[in-house]
Amino acid sequence: MIKNPDPRIKNKLTIRAQNKHNNFGVGVDLQIQQLFRDKYGSTGSPLRDDKWKEFIQDAIRLKNGEPLDYIIGWAPFLNCKIDLSLKPLVPRTETEFWIEKAIREIKKFIQNNSRKTIKILDIFSGSGCIGVAALKNIPGSRITFSEIDPQLIKQIKISLKLNKISPKQYKLIKSDTFKNITGRYDFILANPPYIPLKIKNKVQKEVLKYEPQKALFGGRDGLYFIKKLINQSPKFFNSGGQLWMEFNPSQKTAITKLFKQNKNFKNTEFYKDQYKKWRFLKTEKI
Ligand SMILES: C[S@@+](CC[C@H](N)C(=O)[O-])C[C@H]1O[C@@H](n2cnc3c(N)ncnc32)[C@H](O)[C@@H]1O
Repeated sequence: MIKNPDPRIKNKLTIRAQNKHNNFGVGVDLQIQQLFRDKYGSTGSPLRDDKWKEFIQDAIRLKNGEPLDYIIGWAPFLNCKIDLSLKPLVPRTETEFWIEKAIREIKKFIQNNSRKTIKILDIFSGSGCIGVAALKNIPGSRITFSEIDPQLIKQIKISLKLNKISPKQYKLIKSDTFKNITGRYDFILANPPYIPLKIKNKVQKEVLKYEPQKALFGGRDGLYFIKKLINQSPKFFNSGGQLWMEFNPSQKTAITKLFKQNKNFKNTEFYKDQYKKWRFLKTEKI
């Protein structure tokens, strides 16, 4: 486990751990307690009238289905604080799960290859949770964040500052997938939009109402960006480079076929998330 030095983050994580699959599974009462503690309750003294009014407004937002993390304004991700003021996709616990494993393996890779620095591309960065966590937890990591939405480039900068990360350690690029990407990387970490449009009616209405649609859908079968990653990433790897990617459990068979057709990767391994659903893969560039 990665050490978590901030007790507030730890508390928040404890509640998130009780959350089954998403950010809306926790009972509203429990969420109100969490809201009170994380946004209003740190001093232990009674709330002033204006703060009390604000708290009631927030509780109404919560009852109406707005994600708790948007109302609090930030989310914990490994031992980092991810700002959500510009409303990126709320980081999911499933993503946190595989990024923790990726970080462990990247550290081993650094040790085994006696490397001082390591180049990582966080493509489809959104809030920047993946790259920020990597920077915070992997000494010697250099991250390129790439995202299509210019507002989210600003959002990532806020979290980089919040987590006191030196500008020497990262680059930010506004890019449509790989269009503006140059250079080669040891690792590409990707959580692309992958929900199939054909199951849009099954997506929670709160997610559709509050979270950015651009972050959710990957074409009719959800594979639009996954195909781009598999087909276009090979020329952006250093030798021995690895692609780690999140996907929807229903896509495992289709993705297996895509790797069979593409001869640029070896040792592709699929993994389940903490809820026992196929969720992410790791593969090596040949
Ligand atoms: C599923 S979210 C992932 C966000 C973050 N990495 C995470 O794990 O929480 C996908 C992100 O890809 C971005 N995106 C959508 N289309 C894109 C494109 N054509 N090129 C680059 N980024 C894109 C969205 O704006 C969104 O922030």
